[in-house]
Amino acid sequence: MKPIYLDYHATTPVDAEVLRAMEPYFCEKFGNAASKSHAYGWETEEAVQMARESIAKNIGAESSKSIIFTSGATETNNMVIKGIVHAAKKKPAHIITQVTEHKCIIESCREIEKEGHKITYLGVDHDGLVDPDDVKNAIRPNTILCSIMAANNEIGVIQPIREISKICREKGVWFHSDAVQAVGKIPVDVQRDGIDLLSLSAHKIYGPKGIGALYIAKANPPIRLSPLIHGGSHENGRRAGTLNVPGIVGLAKALEICVKKMPEESKRLGLLRDRLAGEIIRRIDHTYLNGHPTKRLPHNANISFSYVRDTDLIMALPELAVATGSACASGTNEPSYVLRALGIGEDRANSSIRFGLGRQTTKEEIDEAVEYIVRAVEKLRKKSLQYEMR
Ligand SMILES: Cc1ncc(COP(=O)(O)O)c(C=O)c1O
Repeated sequence: MKPIYLDYHATTPVDAEVLRAMEPYFCEKFGNAASKSHAYGWETEEAVQMARESIAKNIGAESSKSIIFTSGATETNNMVIKGIVHAAKKKPAHIITQVTEHKCIIESCREIEKEGHKITYLGVDHDGLVDPDDVKNAIRPNTILCSIMAANNEIGVIQPIREISKICREKGVWFHSDAVQAVGKIPVDVQRDGIDLLSLSAHKIYGPKGIGALYIAKANPPIRLSPLIHGGSHENGRRAGTLNVPGIVGLAKALEICVKKMPEESKRLGLLRDRLAGEIIRRIDHTYLNGHPTKRLPHNANISFSYVRDTDLIMALPELAVATGSACASGTNEPSYVLRALGIGEDRANSSIRFGLGRQTTKEEIDEAVEYIVRAVEKLRKKSLQYEMR
């Protein structure tokens, strides 16, 4: 029997309807969307255009021209951070971000720091939230971009992006949001939320892996991004490379389904998540929910089990597919930098499990998971001298 999957922040299975929508674009409609001289190219170009329009509509974008396809959010985030400073007139340029961003934002920032550009990494409070006033105070004359994620991939905390984007707009600073974990899960509307640039990824929303997008607002003056990948003139010269047509069709379909299901699904998952977290905390002493209790994604719970090492707990839970934190950091013994940023001590940070619920999660699975967790923690704590001497 396969373990109960509770790692939906890492990735999601492809929805059967998404797969069906993609299928014709492998063998039958295989044309290169950039082939302008024949019907094979025209039909895939049309599919790409329809996908662009659908994605634009589902994130509240003003135009399908604002959508640029990439290989995923890692690429999109690299493209934004590096592209904006490389195109900037003000040198050195200054970017504001925050400490619990995904590694692909943090590492892209580190790269451009090596080129002499400046980055402010804002801290978060003990709930994981950025203070919009900190953004305001960090803005300098050469600040060109503020990049704050919509929702965190480890603790699910939802950042006050609308307040932050408002400050950025007033000060003439572009606002980017890595919305990978938020899009399709909670309402995201680029115009209402004041987002100038947004990153999204298909495999977090029941679409295929290896496809993502950048939303870039049509602005005056225009937002200038130097391309990360050079070559042909695809995507208006912003991102070279033959378009992944099946992936693009899948991304659009996946987003469409998520947006349609969102009201019902977020309520269902919120109840299941509360059941999971509530039962764990009620039945096991010295357990804590990490991150803001309510300003968080409905399907996320990140819980510390004091006196138990998270890696031991995962080993003792073969019935569950869970992780200590982001998949990119798994395999390292370092405590999560996200939890540490909340001021959580090393011991507690090293005893934390991220639970991510999703479309296939049932109440029965949650109840089973709780029993497995209670049993595993009891067993491990029996062997813990620190727990006995607490
Ligand atoms: C918040 C966040 N940003 C970016 C990424 C990277 O996305 P992708 O897997 O599409 O490269 C992830 C995936 O783990 C994520 O959770």
